[in-house]
Amino acid sequence: MDYKVPKHVAIIMDGNGRWAQKRGLKRTKGHQRGADVLKEISEYVYDKGIDVLSVFAFSTENWKRDKEEVDYLMDLFLKAFKKNFDSIKKKGVKVVFSGVKNKLSDKVLKAMEKMTLETKDNKNGIFNICLNYGGQDEIVEASKKICNDVKENKINISDINSKMFNKYMFNDLPPIDLMIRTSGEYRISNFMLWQMAYAELYFTDVLWPDFNKEELDKAIKSFNNRDRRFGAVKK
Ligand code: IPE
Ligand code: IPE
Ligand code: MG
Repeated sequence: MDYKVPKHVAIIMDGNGRWAQKRGLKRTKGHQRGADVLKEISEYVYDKGIDVLSVFAFSTENWKRDKEEVDYLMDLFLKAFKKNFDSIKKKGVKVVFSGVKNKLSDKVLKAMEKMTLETKDNKNGIFNICLNYGGQDEIVEASKKICNDVKENKINISDINSKMFNKYMFNDLPPIDLMIRTSGEYRISNFMLWQMAYAELYFTDVLWPDFNKEELDKAIKSFNNRDRRFGAVKK
C-alpha cells in the first residue's frame, strides 16, 4: 500500500491548562510550553510533505476566560510570531490567518498583517493560524459576502455552489484530510466546520504540551489505515 500523506492537517491544540495544573503550575506555563510544541510541529509538517497546516490558536469563545489568561495568550502570540517567523519564512511557507479582527489589539493585528504580507508569495506550504476564530461565524460571514455580491450583481444566485462558497471563507483552503485533537476531548468546539466535512478525525489523550513529532507520526499512521470512501462503494 502506498503511504498517504494528508494534504491538509488541522489541529485543535488542547490541554495546556491541564498540563500545567497537573504539575502545580499556573495555566499560563502550559501555554508557554504549548507554543514551543507548535514551533516544533510547524517546522516538521512541511518536511513530511503536508501542504497545509491549520491550527486553533484562540477561539471566539476563549474571551470568556480570565483577563489575565487572555492577556498572557495575546502576549504569547506576539512573542511566538517574532520567535518563529524567521524559520517559517526561510522554509518558504505562506502564513495566513483565519478569524475576525474585533477585540484584537492593534499590536497583534499589525504583527498578523506583517506575517501575511511578507509571506504572501511563498509556495512551499500554507500555515493557517486560526486566531479569534469560530467555525459558524466563518460560514455566516461568507454568506453575507455572497449576498452582497448578488446584490451588487457581481454573481448570480445560480452561480453559488460549494466550490465557490469555499472562496468566500476566510481563506480558500483545500478540505481538511486529517483533524487531530489532543487532551482526550471528543468534540470539535466550533473549529473549521466547513473544511472538516469529510476529514478523518483523530483524538488522542496526549495533552498538547506533551505532543511531539512521534505523536504526529502516529496520527498520520492512523490516517493511513482509514478507508476513505467518500460515500462510494469500493469495487
Ligand atoms: C488549549 O489549551 C489552548 C487554548 C484554548 C488557547 P487549554 O487552555 O484549553 O487547556 P485545558 O483544556 O484547559 O487543559
Ligand atoms: C478549543 O479548545 C480552542 C483552542 C484550542 C484554541 P477549548 O479548550 O477552548 O475548547 P472547549 O472549551 O474544550 O470546547
Ligand atoms: Mg481546553
